Amino acid sequence: MSKKIFFSGVQPSGNLHLGNYLGSIKNWVDIQDEYQAICCVVNLHAITVPQDPSELKKKTIEVAKLYLASGLDPEKVIIFRQSDVPQHTELMWLLNTITKTGELFKMTQFKDKSGIQENGVTEKISVGAGLLNYPILMAADILLYDTDLVPVGEDQTQHLELTKTLARRFNNRFAKERALLKIPEIFVSKIGKKIMSLTEPNKKMSKSAESPNSRIELLDKPEVVRKKIMRAVTDSENKIYYSDKKEKAGLRNLLNIFSIITGKAPEEIAVDYQDKGYGDLKKDLAEELVEYLKPIQKKFSEISDEEVLDIFEKSKRTLIPRAERKITELNRAMGLE
Ligand code: TRP
Repeated sequence: MSKKIFFSGVQPSGNLHLGNYLGSIKNWVDIQDEYQAICCVVNLHAITVPQDPSELKKKTIEVAKLYLASGLDPEKVIIFRQSDVPQHTELMWLLNTITKTGELFKMTQFKDKSGIQENGVTEKISVGAGLLNYPILMAADILLYDTDLVPVGEDQTQHLELTKTLARRFNNRFAKERALLKIPEIFVSKIGKKIMSLTEPNKKMSKSAESPNSRIELLDKPEVVRKKIMRAVTDSENKIYYSDKKEKAGLRNLLNIFSIITGKAPEEIAVDYQDKGYGDLKKDLAEELVEYLKPIQKKFSEISDEEVLDIFEKSKRTLIPRAERKITELNRAMGLE
C-alpha cells in the first residue's frame, strides 16, 4: 500500500525562526519516513503582500535550503516551489467559484492583515484581493494531492476548516458518487504554541513582527543569539520559578525554549536556577541555542543554490503529471472538459 500523504508549506517572506522550526519543520522531519511528505515553499502566498522580486527569489531558495538543513531528506521528501506547479492556481479558480465571500471576510488572518471587518466596513480598502483569496489557494495546495495530513501552526486552523468545507462542498455538488477531493486531517503542534516573542512574551514568535529582537532566527550568528536572549523581556521580581502567571510569561518562555531544546522539564530547569539570577539562566540558554543551531547553519552553508534549483526541477516533473490528472477529473466533474 502506498504511504499516506502529508502536505505543508512555509512562506518565503521574512526569516525562519525557532518557532517555525520547532513548531513545524522539525515535525515534518520526524514523520518523513512514515508519510509521503510534500513540502512546499509557498511563494504565491507570499505575494499576497508586496514583496521585492529579487529578494523573494532569494528567500524562496533559502527556505528550501533550511528545509534540507533541518534534516528533510530530498530522496524521500518532495520539496518544491508553489509557482512551479500551475495546477495550484488552476484548482484555486475552481474552488473560488464555490467559496462564499462571507467565508473569506470572516477569516481572522484576513481581518488582521487588512483592517477590513466582516460586515464589509473598510478602513484600508487598498489591500489586494489575493489576501482575501489566500485561504482558497491554501485549500488548493492541500486538495490537489489527496493530502491525508496537514501539520500547521494553530493560527492556520481556521484556514484548514475552510479547506475541509470546500472539499465537502465540491464533493456534494459535483462528485456525489465518488468523492474526488479528500478531506484532510489537521495536526497542530503543541510545541509551536509555546514559542513566544522574546520582546512581547504574550504573543507568538513571528516572522512578521517588526523587531528582529523578538525572535531567534535560524541563521542568527552566535553573537546575535546571545544579544537577543540577554535582552529578552522578563519581569522585575528576579526570581526563577515556572509559573502560569501573566507576569512570568517572559521567564516561562525562556524556560520552555530551554526545555524543548535540551529535553529537560521546564520545572526542573527552574529548580536548577532557583538560587541564580535571570542573567545566569539567559547566558546558559544562549549557549544551548548557539550549539543547537550550529549543525543546521553548517548544513545550510554547504548547500548550493544549484542543488536547490535541481530539486525544484525534479519535483516539478514529479508533481505536474499528478496534478494534471487531478485537474482533469475535477474539470470533467464540473462540465469543463
Ligand atoms: N498559510 C500557511 C502559513 O502561513 C502556509 C501555507 C500555504 C500552508 N499553503 C499551505 C500550510 C498548505 C499548510 C498547507 O503558515
